[in-house]
Amino acid sequence: MIPEVFDFIEQELSNLKNTGLYRHMSLIHGHQEPKVTVNGKDTILLCSNNYLGLANHPKIKQAAISAIEKYGFGSGASRLVSGNMKLHEELEQRLARFKGTEAALVFNSGYHANIGIISALVGRGDVIFSDKLNHASIIDGCLLSKAELKRYPHKDINSLEALLKKHATRNTPLIETFRGRHHATLIITDGIFSMDGDIAPLKELSELADKYNCMLMVDDAHATGVLGKNGKGTLEHFDIDNPNPVLRHNGTGIIQMGTLGKGLGCFGAYVAGSKKLIDYLVNKARSFIYTTSLPPSVCAASIAAIDIIENEPQLRQDLWDRISFFRSGLENAGFDIMNSETQIIPILIGKADKAIKISKNLMDKGVFIQAIRPPTVPEGTSRLRITLMANHSWDDLKYAIETIKLALEAV
Ligand SMILES: Cc1ncc(COP(=O)(O)O)c(C=O)c1O
Repeated sequence: MIPEVFDFIEQELSNLKNTGLYRHMSLIHGHQEPKVTVNGKDTILLCSNNYLGLANHPKIKQAAISAIEKYGFGSGASRLVSGNMKLHEELEQRLARFKGTEAALVFNSGYHANIGIISALVGRGDVIFSDKLNHASIIDGCLLSKAELKRYPHKDINSLEALLKKHATRNTPLIETFRGRHHATLIITDGIFSMDGDIAPLKELSELADKYNCMLMVDDAHATGVLGKNGKGTLEHFDIDNPNPVLRHNGTGIIQMGTLGKGLGCFGAYVAGSKKLIDYLVNKARSFIYTTSLPPSVCAASIAAIDIIENEPQLRQDLWDRISFFRSGLENAGFDIMNSETQIIPILIGKADKAIKISKNLMDKGVFIQAIRPPTVPEGTSRLRITLMANHSWDDLKYAIETIKLALEAV
């Protein structure tokens, strides 16, 4: 019998269901707060990236409302046509000041940013060295670029150097590359790894990038507002001076990408770097060029969020206090929290169906933690991925730790 054209859909869905990898969405009622109602059930939310609790902050809501009143809602076109409004540029100036760079450029999301930046920087004939646990949007950017992709073992500087050495001595065939015959190399890493919660060794990566004349890009999606004394991200955390960008990495400095939808509680993403880099991306990043720009109210919200991050450092302290408390609660209970160092705390479970069962059990008891399974994480490393917020109450966190202990003992 000839299969119907769409038979594969049903087959694939049942494969996913049989292997514990089927995904579905949970419906959240009301605001994004530390406690939410999910499918009608009251729960403690422990799987949101709203780390500083800003998504429902009155100043941010008011900034968006005022911007809608002043500028309307839609932007009507892409930035390069007629969708470049005052608030887009104001947000970019604020981001550049916050990150301490010459310039910044806003993208519609972190996914857009990664696919656009990477495919603009490298192409056919170039090489990318990417950490094995980098986010899916980085991987998609690498694949889209058509550059050769070399994935180095997670945070393994020695293996990366071995790969770089091999590449440097390789007799590259004289093929026509993306930019004539000049081959480029890019090292790319998450700042805080999204599913593991550990931090990239950025200082060492930066030294390697200098030594082997590579571009270096860091994805600060989870680090913006969280890492560093002033919440500026991974560079600030390691006290890496990104001094005169003209002297480093061929005039671009470390390329810092980050998102506005996580620690900032808003939506969108940015890249911060030299003016030259930003000018280049405006001309070359297709996911920037060929898409309607963000609504101005979304930019206004992000500006208000940067104000809060700059003026209310206590929020970040509140988050880090909760991180210490929760980590020690889980470690004292003997759980494997992998190498987490931050607000993202995984508990390694192993099999996908087991992780799902525990997650459901937790939900029944009012604790909302998603099970993360392949292909998001490697086979055999399914986990509960816990994320903390600055405004979780201590009582809720204590209850969550006790409930997690019981749920894991029960399987
Ligand atoms: C490391 C990392 N980069 C990029 C993204 C994509 O950002 P966005 O959600 O804004 O598309 C995410 C998460 O979604 C992420 O975890």
